[in-house]
Amino acid sequence: MTKNPTILTGIRANSELTLGNFLGALLPMVRLANEYSKKDCHVNIFSPDLHSIISEVDGSLHDNLYRTIKIYLAAGLELNDHIHFYRQSRIPAHSELCWILNCTATMGELNRMTQYKDKSEGKDSVNVGIFDYPVLMAADILLYDATYVPVGEDQFQHLELTRRLAERFNHKYGETFTMPAKPEDQIKFMKTDNGIRIRDLQNPEKKMSKSTPAENSKIMLSDAPTAARKKIMSAITDSVGKIQYDMFNQPGISNLLQIEALVNDAPLQEVISTWAGETHYGDLKQKVAESVATMLEAFQSKIANIQDQTITDLLEAGEAYANEIASTKLLTVQERVGLR
Ligand code: TRP
Repeated sequence: MTKNPTILTGIRANSELTLGNFLGALLPMVRLANEYSKKDCHVNIFSPDLHSIISEVDGSLHDNLYRTIKIYLAAGLELNDHIHFYRQSRIPAHSELCWILNCTATMGELNRMTQYKDKSEGKDSVNVGIFDYPVLMAADILLYDATYVPVGEDQFQHLELTRRLAERFNHKYGETFTMPAKPEDQIKFMKTDNGIRIRDLQNPEKKMSKSTPAENSKIMLSDAPTAARKKIMSAITDSVGKIQYDMFNQPGISNLLQIEALVNDAPLQEVISTWAGETHYGDLKQKVAESVATMLEAFQSKIANIQDQTITDLLEAGEAYANEIASTKLLTVQERVGLR
């Protein structure tokens, strides 16, 4: 009997989301979770809070996590007994497997990680957590035999390392871990090959980023609907004078069409046809501004209506499940390496 693949995703809860993060990453994840949890696949959505403390946290990880989970629920996640939320720090097996994997990973391998190089460059003191980050990530994935791990491209190198460590362990101690899918298969699974990237409103050649200082460049999920409306109205477009989808020559207009489609959950092609032949950019902006404001308003009121207790209960159930799966796997690992 082949087991249905497990899907696992780590959610970083230490920052506010932009409309771009929401439409481009979170919403697709919610749709995947809804689809696959109904097909009898387990979907693990966890907070890598031990990863978060590689840099100073201001004590708000807890509040941010609660808000992030509420965002998932408000975005339409349909809870069922195949969807599990948990915090890495509440499942001791993550740290323990990390140590065991540390004894198979090499300094050379970890030294080659670009994230480590970027984070340590030019510093005279770097904490060991930053160096060991990818091994803990491998433990996060391998404990649950996860096949699909939707991550951004910046994490593919860590995923490759996870695969290498799994293979090494299986080879040395016998089949123990499920091999996560290759990055290219992850992309296919996520169906993101059409490259949804919401752009910076003032600088549409670039992607919308929360770290851009200009407020007008980005819409945050917490923005007041009226403020969001103004930002869309002041979006930079072009002087072509035709409403059409052409990311290369008209990234601003194309971005607005893309936003309109995603916010209304309509196929992009349909939105493009609706506007074909139109020339008034102001009309398009009005429409998109309206769509975004309406969406934010509904979304924010949903969030406000979710009680903290709901999240507490969800985490409690998820952590009971995760502890059971993870500690069973850890036991096998301990036996294989000779600790038991
Ligand atoms: N490193 C991931 C990121 O920065 C977060 C993460 C930690 C993760 N452990 C994971 C993601 C395991 C997927 C699976 O986005």
